[in-house]
Amino acid sequence: MTRPTVIDLFAGCGGMTVGFSLEGFDPILAVEQDKFAAATYAANFGEDHVHAGDIADVMNQEIPTADLVIGGPPCQGFSNLGLKRLDDPRNQLWREYMRFITMAKPQVFVIENVDRFSSSPEFHMLLAEVDRGVLKDYEISYGVLNAADYGVSQRRRRTIVIGSRVGKIQLPEPTHARKPSPASGLLPWRTVKDRIHGLPAIPDSTELPDSLTEFFGETMPGMFKGLEIHFRRDPRPISLARYSYVPPGGGRFDVPTDLLPRCWREKPTGTTDVMGRMRWDFPSHTIRTEFFKPEKGSYLHPQWVPGRPRHGEDARWIKGDPMKSVNRVVTHYEASLLQDFPEDYLWVGTKIAIAKQIGNAVPSGLARAIARQVRPAVA
Ligand SMILES: C[S@@+](CC[C@H](N)C(=O)[O-])C[C@H]1O[C@@H](n2cnc3c(N)ncnc32)[C@H](O)[C@@H]1O
Repeated sequence: MTRPTVIDLFAGCGGMTVGFSLEGFDPILAVEQDKFAAATYAANFGEDHVHAGDIADVMNQEIPTADLVIGGPPCQGFSNLGLKRLDDPRNQLWREYMRFITMAKPQVFVIENVDRFSSSPEFHMLLAEVDRGVLKDYEISYGVLNAADYGVSQRRRRTIVIGSRVGKIQLPEPTHARKPSPASGLLPWRTVKDRIHGLPAIPDSTELPDSLTEFFGETMPGMFKGLEIHFRRDPRPISLARYSYVPPGGGRFDVPTDLLPRCWREKPTGTTDVMGRMRWDFPSHTIRTEFFKPEKGSYLHPQWVPGRPRHGEDARWIKGDPMKSVNRVVTHYEASLLQDFPEDYLWVGTKIAIAKQIGNAVPSGLARAIARQVRPAVA
């Protein structure tokens, strides 16, 4: 049986393709302009079908026909709401997207975007194209899906659009729920523990290994795998002191006021999840591109055991037992697992570049659920 073919646009390091290839799709073209992300994709799926450059530079004659096109143009922003037109120069990436659909003639396309996508001008433009434009042969389904509802150990809400010209395809039904009733047949959400428990609490190194590789004729750091991206940072003593007060599920409000940076002291409300600590028994918050900065979200390692207040210490603030708590953010490896990448996924790039690839990706469990839903239509 031949495998259905897929083109991955704005492919990043290949999160979507991981899920689709696990469901039997054969990637025949991936387009990604970030060299390191394209190289990570190439390390895992082959360099032969990767265009490592701007989507606008792919010639029409280089676009093969394919059963499926996945990946949507990144949103340009949410200001300036209202109808926008495809010929607006700011919509170049959407024009490129439509060009690919016209040339590849897929039976189905899948777009992934931020949860607020349906309130963006780009979404209205997409609907207009479905109504009477380039996409008029396609029927679409769309909605916001939470990766945790599809067996991923992370709460990550994304808008998914499925367009089909071979009969409308519904979004996949959840397989997991926060508190499933026995009658629902759903499984409970997977947890942080399910994915990262048992990894070294204190990674050996603060650096990536010293290895180089070549992709697209350029030398780059990599390829790295598994514990090679499980490196630690060396936070300042003041940062360590702050982390030590944050219990699982807690955040900056658990830190004594005099230890907080001035900007937070002066802003006593809002941004509740910053300097947050994960919980072992719950899926993580969304892993973003700067997960290595605790001040950007809920990225502290979940291991924390309350200590006893020492003589003279203010009992309002509970400090973790230093011997039983892990006072660091999750490592790149842990973040990649929470993003549902395979344990042996290969990575290329600098520390910051790899973090960006991880944070930008679609968790493979979510991609896989969509692939499973689409597969019968293109078989
Ligand atoms: C949200 S990420 C995609 C993540 C990917 N779907 C995954 O699952 O790993 C969007 C990607 O679009 C790429 N991109 C943005 N503009 C582009 C362009 N003009 N041509 C090619 N790629 C572009 C970015 O470099 C980024 O990696």
